[in-house]
Amino acid sequence: MADGDTELEARLVEQEEFEPSEEFVAQANVSDPAVYDEFEENWPDCWERAAEMLDWDEEYDEVLDDSNPPFYKWFTGGKLNVSYNCVDRHVENGDKNRVAIKWEGEHGETRTYTYQDLYREVNEFAAALRDLGVEEDDVVTLYMPMIPELPIAMLACARIGAPHSVVFGGFSADALATRMNSADSRFLVTCDGYYRRGDPLDHLDKANEGLDGVDHGVDAAVVVDRLGDDGFGHDLKGNQHDWDDLLDEHAGERIDPVERDAEDMLFLMYTSGTTGQPKGVKHTTGGYLAYAAWTSHAVLDIEKEDTYWCSADIGWITGHSYIVYGPMALGTTTVMYEGTPDFPNRDRLWDIIEKYAVDIFYTAPTAIRAFMKWGSRFPEQHDLSSLRLLGTVGEPINPRAWKWYYKHIGNEDCPVVDTWWQTETGGMMITTLPGVKKMKPGSAGPPLPGIDAQIVDTSGKQVDAGRAGYLTVNRPWPGMLRTLYKNDERFIQEYWQEYSDVDSDDPDDWVYFPEDGAKIDGDDYITILGRVDDVINVSGHRLGTMEIESAIVGVEGVAEAAVVGGNHEVKGEAVYAYVITEEGQDEDDEMRARIIEGVEDAIGPIARPEMVVFTPELPKTRSGKIMRRLLEEIANGEELGDTTTLRNPEVVESIQRQVEGE
Ligand code: WTA
Repeated sequence: MADGDTELEARLVEQEEFEPSEEFVAQANVSDPAVYDEFEENWPDCWERAAEMLDWDEEYDEVLDDSNPPFYKWFTGGKLNVSYNCVDRHVENGDKNRVAIKWEGEHGETRTYTYQDLYREVNEFAAALRDLGVEEDDVVTLYMPMIPELPIAMLACARIGAPHSVVFGGFSADALATRMNSADSRFLVTCDGYYRRGDPLDHLDKANEGLDGVDHGVDAAVVVDRLGDDGFGHDLKGNQHDWDDLLDEHAGERIDPVERDAEDMLFLMYTSGTTGQPKGVKHTTGGYLAYAAWTSHAVLDIEKEDTYWCSADIGWITGHSYIVYGPMALGTTTVMYEGTPDFPNRDRLWDIIEKYAVDIFYTAPTAIRAFMKWGSRFPEQHDLSSLRLLGTVGEPINPRAWKWYYKHIGNEDCPVVDTWWQTETGGMMITTLPGVKKMKPGSAGPPLPGIDAQIVDTSGKQVDAGRAGYLTVNRPWPGMLRTLYKNDERFIQEYWQEYSDVDSDDPDDWVYFPEDGAKIDGDDYITILGRVDDVINVSGHRLGTMEIESAIVGVEGVAEAAVVGGNHEVKGEAVYAYVITEEGQDEDDEMRARIIEGVEDAIGPIARPEMVVFTPELPKTRSGKIMRRLLEEIANGEELGDTTTLRNPEVVESIQRQVEGE
């Protein structure tokens, strides 16, 4: 460990449990342990508590309609608008001058939007979208980096009842096209570029290439001018419009928020699964927003007076639920930062926390591991005493990183919530309530009130405390995905089939399977062990190994490929690609570079292989299945498990030699 951390090591290393301070508990939004029993006894009506956090245009008739599992419906008959709930009501309730978004660009420029500013721009952009022909239920794709126009566009879509599909800005042109095609999306909002480590990046070039791949054609695109004079001189095409021009044209216009049914789609979010095709996860208006708001209140302890910062990208679910929808439903101030944590220096995040006196900070374990590696002298340069609560999400956090975060960022004063959830769950599912429960580093915590999670074996039987098994969720919850876009069948196959009686109409026979391994302690604390499907988690980003494999196989000269996740000190997992080339193909650095380029083109730099290993064969079982477990063990330099079932055990040694030689 860097710096003078040995003392911390000695003192904290043994400690396995931490209590929140009395001071924290005294002010916490939720501090009564009875909340767990209350939810249990009153289920599913307990979820009214979440719904009450919203303003409804029309009250719902029923909290949960579970007559057709797993197609659950929440708050049926209720009507509301998400943009009204995240913007208008704060303006009306005397908070128009409260800061909604504090944005900081990589070069240090800042922009501040009050709720009134947000109200004006959301309305104007909603008017612009309508004018461009966007109708209720049209899917609008947003392909943007971390600039304020992204949440503004999301809220404008919500205002007119047009679901958005945000595609992470770091995804490639191909990935954009795939998602637009899958969602039948005819509208795009994007930007000319953005800054990364000081340099402008051409984003519109990628967007344009993506648009060329949209089969059904595109009605209109809106382009934000982020780079100004640093731009790349693109001319806008016939159906492309400049964001600022549109706002000028619609200056001062007001659009009534459309009354949406609680079960109407709010957005689609594509995520990786076992097959090569990304899944379009569908989230709805009432249940999702209620769940995001409730968990922001109960777990993140957000109050409107807070300055809250989640350092995720809005292109992922964490940014949707916990930069935009949850915090804004609560009317708080949310910080947005455009750039990387080490630009211009490795203290950038701590600088931001000090500058804005951030109260609550939510980040990913991969970031914490990087901070740890850089050393505690960077946070020590800053006054972080404004912090009250810390959170992590996205992957398992090892106790050492947890303790470093607790000590060096939280000064042993701030509870840390380790939140387990997924794109599909919409919001947090397993974590401690910071005002109620003790913390155990490495273990996410018990299921939240109202959530019924269990650890089972392959037959669905609960496993004993301390034994590894599969995580399941045995009851629906308001923030859950409703289906995979236009693919109910795959929805059942991917998430339910494993542990449910799919022919039954009884909700008790339906069990949600998140495809994570886990174990449980005697006190119901759950430790997440990681994915059990062919999904890997690289720097908190969820990537399908099949997607990467199909990108590699698309490279000229490649015959076959297998991709696995190997352990990585900072990224958690890294992409290891084992490649068989075609006869006569040189296996050299040039070929490696082409393979990496192929992956970047198909998915994006986040999926870049850490190592490309050429091999004449892949280890296969007698039935011809690639033995991935072995490839993982090789990547991790571990002792190999049973190889007797292999058809070709002799390849193992040669692959091993290569990986070790690298
Ligand atoms: C993993 C991100 C351990 C898990 C919100 C899950 C975690 C996948 C945690 C979902 C955590 C997320 N501890 N593992 N606190 N949080 N995961 O859809 O494997 O990008 O299934 O959602 O991340 O990733 P996704």
